[in-house]
Amino acid sequence: MLGFHVLTLFPEMVMQGLHTSILGRAVGKQCISIEAVNIRDYTTDKHGKVDDYTYGGGAGMLMQAQPVYDAYLSVARKLEGNPRVIYVTPQGKTFHQEMAKELAKEEELIFLCGHYEGVDERVLEEIVTDYVSIGDYVLTGGELPAMVMIDAIARLVPGVLHNDESATTESFHNDLLEYPQYSRPEVWRDKRVPEILLSGNHAKVDEWRLEQSIERTKRLRPDLYEKWAGRNVTGVSKGVKHQGVKQQN
Ligand code: ADE
Repeated sequence: MLGFHVLTLFPEMVMQGLHTSILGRAVGKQCISIEAVNIRDYTTDKHGKVDDYTYGGGAGMLMQAQPVYDAYLSVARKLEGNPRVIYVTPQGKTFHQEMAKELAKEEELIFLCGHYEGVDERVLEEIVTDYVSIGDYVLTGGELPAMVMIDAIARLVPGVLHNDESATTESFHNDLLEYPQYSRPEVWRDKRVPEILLSGNHAKVDEWRLEQSIERTKRLRPDLYEKWAGRNVTGVSKGVKHQGVKQQN
């Protein structure tokens, strides 16, 4: 069981986004729990204000330390130990599959979603353990990045995916992209499903899929291909055949 706690100004966005489809089912099965804490509920300002101008001038407003800290305390007080607190920010380390795997081993995770021009540095120093970005682009707030990360982490928690789903979720640890896949009909707009896939020869199908994965990775993600090739210097013939072809992109 992994508990996600999201400190946000838009709790409905987080709750609606994360309670659908596979994650909604996982919450129902109690493999994970997801709580969104409204930072605004913790402001001591009588008008419900959570932001103010930045000292030293400059455009935009900053989220103030007090409501963020008190929202954090409301969560931290009911949890054991010192859960990691992830501040989603374009200034953080770029999120990747290995990080998702590592975070999936935690029992509780707290996400802090910033808005406006950011959050007062002092509260970040006080509570944040990890600064994480989802990529080199800037979004309007931290909710979408937090949701992306929670989805990637949650699907690695035991029980979240069904067996048939997890078979296709070996992620990026093999550094190869997924091979092309086909479903019925056999012919669509004059395009045939590759003959080998209809052969019933599983060894040949595996071989074909690996070749396709390698070719596709080389063409689309030369960086991943180099990594894979470096780890598989002994070559495809030496039993790497069944590694690495079953993943979703
Ligand atoms: N907040 C705004 N943009 C972001 C990004 N790219 N990653 C994480 N948090 C963000």
